[in-house]
Formats: sequence, C-alpha cells, structure tokens
Amino acid sequence: MPDTELLTLQIDHVGILQSRYEKVLEDHGYDGLLISSGAAPMRYDDDQSWHFQGYGPFLHWTGLAGYEHAWLLIRKGRKPLLSLYQLVDFWHASLELAQEPWLDEFELRFSESRSAPELDGLSQLAILGEPSLLAGLSGDENPGALCAAVNETRVHKTAYEIACLAHANKLAMAGHRAARDAFLAGGSEFEINLAYQRATQQREVDAPYNSIIGVNEHAGTLHYQYYDTAAPAKSRSLLIDAGVRYRAYCSDITRTTAGVGEGRFAALVQGLEQLQFRLCKMVAPGVDYVDIHRKTHLGIAALLGAAGLVSDLSDEDMVAEGVTRAVFPHGIGHFLGVQVHDVAGKPVAPPADAPFLRLTRTLEPGMVVTIEPGLYFIPSLLEPLLSSPLGRHINQSLLDELQGCGGIRIEDNLMVTDSGYRNLTREAEA
Ligand code: GLY
Ligand code: MN
Ligand code: MN
Repeated sequence: MPDTELLTLQIDHVGILQSRYEKVLEDHGYDGLLISSGAAPMRYDDDQSWHFQGYGPFLHWTGLAGYEHAWLLIRKGRKPLLSLYQLVDFWHASLELAQEPWLDEFELRFSESRSAPELDGLSQLAILGEPSLLAGLSGDENPGALCAAVNETRVHKTAYEIACLAHANKLAMAGHRAARDAFLAGGSEFEINLAYQRATQQREVDAPYNSIIGVNEHAGTLHYQYYDTAAPAKSRSLLIDAGVRYRAYCSDITRTTAGVGEGRFAALVQGLEQLQFRLCKMVAPGVDYVDIHRKTHLGIAALLGAAGLVSDLSDEDMVAEGVTRAVFPHGIGHFLGVQVHDVAGKPVAPPADAPFLRLTRTLEPGMVVTIEPGLYFIPSLLEPLLSSPLGRHINQSLLDELQGCGGIRIEDNLMVTDSGYRNLTREAEA
C-alpha cells in the first residue's frame, strides 16, 4: 500500500474534484454528470479486442486504470457513486480492488451488468464518454462546453497528482537506467525494451504509450514504433522515450545516449542537454509556453553553428529560413497527467511557426508540462534544404556522419510552482 501521506492527499484530491465539478455543474445547468470508464473496442471481424486505456475523467477521479464498463456519477452535495463492473466469469479474472481510504469518499457498488447505474432523481444529466458506450442513456451526451470545463479541472494538478506524477517519474527512471545499460552492453532494441519493462515491472500495454526505442538511424524517427531483434554491427546511439503509469498518472521521459567512440554525437547530446536545462529554467508562472518553444529554435540554431553543421548564417536567419524546423520539427512539449498528452492545452490554435505545438497557454502554478527539445537528422526534411540555396551553409560531410546516429531528444516532466518549477524527472534521477 502507498504511504499514509499519499493516501491522505488522495482524499483531499477527491474533495477538490468534488468542489471543482460542483461549480462546473452549476455553471452549465446540470444536477448530475455520469462518466463512463470506457471499454476496449473489438477488432473488426475478430473475437479479440484492442488494448484498453481508461477514459481521462474517470481516471482523474479514481486512478483506476484497467476497469472497463465502470461508471461514475457525480452529483451536487452527494458522494460520487462508483459502480464497478465485476462479472463472475470463468474466462477472465476480476481486478482486485485495493481497500484504500479514498473509497470511503465514494458510494461504491459492484455490478454484474455493463449498464449504467439507475439515475433516479436527476432531471438535468450530462453523460461523458466514448459515444458507443452511451447509447440508450438519457442525458446530454458529451456537451461541448461542459466537456471543455471538465477538461479544465485537470489543468491545475492537486498535491496528490503531483505526488503520483513524481512517483511515475521515479519508476520510469529505473527503466531508463536499465535501458541505457542494455544499449551499452550491445543489446538490440527488443532487448532494450525488455530491460525497460523488467526494471519498471510494467507491461507495455499498461504504459501511457508504446515505448519509442530507436538505435542508430531509428532514433531519427520521432515516434519510431518497431523493435529490431538484432543489434546493429555498431551501436552508435540510443533514443528511448518511455514512461510509466502510477495510479493512472503518466511519466513521459526521453533520454539519448551516444555509443562508445561517438565523440561528435556525444558533444551534440551534451549541447542539447545544456539547452534543455536552460529551457527548463524558463518554466515559471506568467511565461507564455510558446515563448519557450521559440527560444528552443534559437538555442538549436546556436548549437548547429557551434557544432559546425551550419555556417555563415545568423541564429535568427536559421530560424527564419526553416533550418531549425528541419532538425526540430515537433513542439517543445505538452501538458501531462492521466493522459500523456493531457487535455486543455490548446484553447487557442498554435501559431503558424509552431504547427505541432500541443500547448499554447501561459503557465500557471500547478500545471505540469514536458520540456523536450530535439535535434534530428531526418533525410526527408534535410534534402529540400540541401538542394536549396541554403545548402551551401550546411556541412554535408558532417551531416552524413551524424545521420547514422538518427537524432537526439531529451525530455523531462516539470511542475510549475508559485515561483518557478520543480523538475520531477531530474529529482527522480538524483
Ligand atoms: N512520448 C510522446 C511525447 O513525448 O510526446
Ligand atoms: Mn512528451
Ligand atoms: Mn515522450
């Protein structure tokens, strides 16, 4: 069982959610809100289902990842009703519910039916969840304004959520250390993945996302999704982006390791890490997250110049001409919570110079964000540059040498505090 402090914080968390939700109900004219936990859909023309990942608002309240066909009813002035589906079934096991204090804050039921609980006495009901699971229920289904307000309740993390996110970082860092060791011992991507899973004691299907494990050129594919079972003749680089779920809360961490004898690449990794530290230091209340993204481009330009990859072009021109976009094509990060790309990050669309940015808000205490600069050698993005007039500024032979290392990403998870930030990942690393 987790320590008493965490369990006490969880009770506070439930109380905070109750008051946040009561305000949402009041503001939107509802007296009840029914939330489905979700269920894994069946694969087409098959008797097998897709892997299950629970629905965010249900996880936010309960932390119960893995409970399909469960329901949660939130009402004003009453305990939330939690109905857990438990079929007596000789094919499958039922999850064992840990007897923890937070359950006393709920009216708890077990049901052998997948149906929603009775909704007596509620006249204005909203129902939230995957639409196919809501069929036949009376109530307003996923009303847009209410859903946006519900998502907003997840933006400022409670102390309980911060503690869970910190622990998810601790668990994942053990995996990252094991993965690094497996790489340096000459392991394949598949073996590195096994090392990560063994150290984190987590099945990949239970993780917040499939681990991204790229050795050599594969490190240059942002969301590389395969695992080679054979190690390359020479292991030059490893990029691993992998997290852990703890009580539903996600970590999302990336580390890049240079292979033995890869001095130039190692220097670039070090340079990007220095930049990442500087970007983390920008995290504070009142800071526009888009500004951190834009600073990243300038920092990467400086790094390209210092490494001799680009010459006779100012940092500002490298950004304006799209040179930095070719090596850093994604956003600097996103919100993190019970979903790896947590909700409510984009009340306004990202600006034209940052089309893939998943967070466009001004930072406030309690928000949790990732800071994940990258620098990649992606042939399809570099070739147009090389064949343009800008090509004369680029050191092609150095680029060719580094292309076999794929790329670099360094990603930490940070909480915005009243005066700055807490880096949950570096704390876990220490
Ligand atoms: N692991 C996906 C991401 O970093 O956003
Ligand atoms: Mn991320
Ligand atoms: Mn990541």
